[in-house]
Amino acid sequence: MTLEPLRLGLNIDHVATIRNARGGMHPDPSRAAATARAAGADGLTIHLREDRRHIIDTDMQAVRAASSLPINLEMAATEEMTAIAVAFKPHAACIVPEKREERTTEGGLDVAGLHNSLAPVVRELSEAGCRVSLFIEPDLVQIAVSEVIGAPVVELHTGRYAELWNQGGAEAAADELERIAWASREACKRGLEPHAGHGLTFDNVKPIAAIPQLRELNIGHFLVGEAIFTGLEAAVKRMRSLMDEARAEAAA
Ligand code: PXP
Repeated sequence: MTLEPLRLGLNIDHVATIRNARGGMHPDPSRAAATARAAGADGLTIHLREDRRHIIDTDMQAVRAASSLPINLEMAATEEMTAIAVAFKPHAACIVPEKREERTTEGGLDVAGLHNSLAPVVRELSEAGCRVSLFIEPDLVQIAVSEVIGAPVVELHTGRYAELWNQGGAEAAADELERIAWASREACKRGLEPHAGHGLTFDNVKPIAAIPQLRELNIGHFLVGEAIFTGLEAAVKRMRSLMDEARAEAAA
């Protein structure tokens, strides 16, 4: 059996977090963008938050100028962000829930509850040429409503899987892994392309990367943290090779 390739989207938000800690220019997210392709990343992910805590508006063009990789813009479904995305026209736009007080994107989008407000944003982004994805929990209702809304991609939230893995390794995370594998199959059956991300590390990535239906993983915090010890290029290369190994083992 041969599996479709699994893309790696490198999320460079936290390069900007470190830069912003001092308010200067260093480290520059566009420099991270420039090294991503050689290291084996297939795309760049940036999240422009309402409070601009990491990526800021001027980073967007700078990142684009620094790399030929496609850009996935994570964004809340607000008027402000939609206008920015429509003007910027990233390759992809991933709609995420956003709360001011959270440290990171805590749960998936409640696509079912927000259907009426999300549908026009998905339409507007699609008309601007963006491949739209919805960041959701691996849950039947959320997948079914994503299909109705007409987003071509769902990104499955792996945060709970990662948390369980931290508590008790593969065994503790086994049920959640099965839920993500099931949701990936379900998304595919409905014509949606499944992606996954959040909290993925060298330790926990392989079982996720082995899910045959998944087409893209978006990984950031761990890789930027690891870059402190090994450099970004080495960290991304190792993640790439773990993903490739998992894929090859699953296909054998
Ligand atoms: N995917 C989405 C939709 C996210 O919001 C995030 C976090 O910004 C990630 C992937 C990457 O998560 P992490 O930084 O934990 O690797």
